[in-house]
Amino acid sequence: MRTQVGIIGAGPAGLLLSHLLHLRGISSVVLERRSRAYVERRVRAGVLEQGTVDTLVEAGVGARLLREGLPHDGIELRYGGAAHRIAFEKLVPGRRITVYGQQEVVKDLIAARLEAGGDLRFEVEDVAVHDPAGAPYLTFGGERLDCEVIAGCDGFHGVSRPSIPEGVLSVFERDYPFAWLGVLARVRPSAEELIYARDERGFALHSMRSPEVSRFYLQVPPDADVADWPDERVWAELRARLETIPGFALETGEIIEKGVTPMRAFVAEPMQYGRLYLAGDSAHIVPPTGAKGLNLAVADVRTLTEALAAYFGTGSADLLDGYSAACLRRVWRAQHFSWWMTTLLHTFADEDAYARRLQLSHLDYVTSSAAAATTLAENYVGLS
Ligand code: FAD
Ligand code: DHB
Repeated sequence: MRTQVGIIGAGPAGLLLSHLLHLRGISSVVLERRSRAYVERRVRAGVLEQGTVDTLVEAGVGARLLREGLPHDGIELRYGGAAHRIAFEKLVPGRRITVYGQQEVVKDLIAARLEAGGDLRFEVEDVAVHDPAGAPYLTFGGERLDCEVIAGCDGFHGVSRPSIPEGVLSVFERDYPFAWLGVLARVRPSAEELIYARDERGFALHSMRSPEVSRFYLQVPPDADVADWPDERVWAELRARLETIPGFALETGEIIEKGVTPMRAFVAEPMQYGRLYLAGDSAHIVPPTGAKGLNLAVADVRTLTEALAAYFGTGSADLLDGYSAACLRRVWRAQHFSWWMTTLLHTFADEDAYARRLQLSHLDYVTSSAAAATTLAENYVGLS
């Protein structure tokens, strides 16, 4: 079997790449180890930058997103007993975010690929990368797929990055001393916009998916186990961290999903080796506080598509050779913003009283200085 681009992973990166390549007349095969139902149900990110929405709409997979996505023109920072709005419409006119679940993006992309006759293979076993710097090919479940190029879109725990020989990659990483407990609940959102709350008990985030479904995150210890978080405890903790301003009451309801995500930052450089190109979480991850992970994956794929279109169209490998360098500037900007948001809003166990006061003063700076608020807004709505 032979294809132009062998893609490992049917997350947002792999699926979007396959779709964008199809629009350019380039063939691909997507190999995913999980089932279709599993990837369509996996609850993860929810904030789409304008550039991400534009990419999906221009690619013809944005109809439901435009219908059901929730456009937001601001977010709230809540701390010290008060609410502070970061008003995008004033600080970054014309730019906004759209709240739409990652698994909805995945469903839309799978539907579009299948409708176009795309070759998506779910539940494939033992995918392995061979000869990435020579004549690349993939093997899986006893089959062989020869490729001109391989795209490693298989997330942080995939096989593509580890297939690059030792000594080629430089790795930069940081583990945070806490995790996020993510909760999806069948309840009307208690606020119109996202609330990022800094509280002495820890960070809390109120997000949403629809007028009937809310999404919440709680800062928890790094080794937290969902078994220790029965629903009553989740609601009590969310109340304690969010009901901190006069007149705000959290609506509660049935919890339909719960999971713990470690908080980690990671970058592997360069994002390529021979004819193997890494995109999305396989090359880099950010702590989710800045809502950048999914958006970075989409930006990588846009860049890789242009480079592959030039390569297959004209034979020029210039853009492919510059792929990693073209992505890494944005990746590091996102690393910085995600670190900044994480530092601003979480409690750190080893911090002394002075550090806590400084953090509150930093929040006061962000909410009282137009320059600082604009910095937050510019980065949140989209990294250019
Ligand atoms: P992924 O979505 O991870 O897709 C990779 C795909 O490759 C998966 O389908 C996987 O099953 C498949 N795969 C892996 N190994 C193999 C293999 N050996 N063979 C074949 N297939 C393989 N970002 C936010 O902005 N906000 C959030 O709240 C948020 N929450 C997150 C929670 C979790 C648990 C995780 C892991 C990430 C979260 N992120 C969040 C980050 C965001 O979801 C990712 O940045 C985004 O999913 C990246 O897309 P991707 O396609 O690169 O990788
Ligand atoms: C969501 C996730 C994030 O990481 C974030 O910063 C904001 C919202 C969400 O899942 O809705």
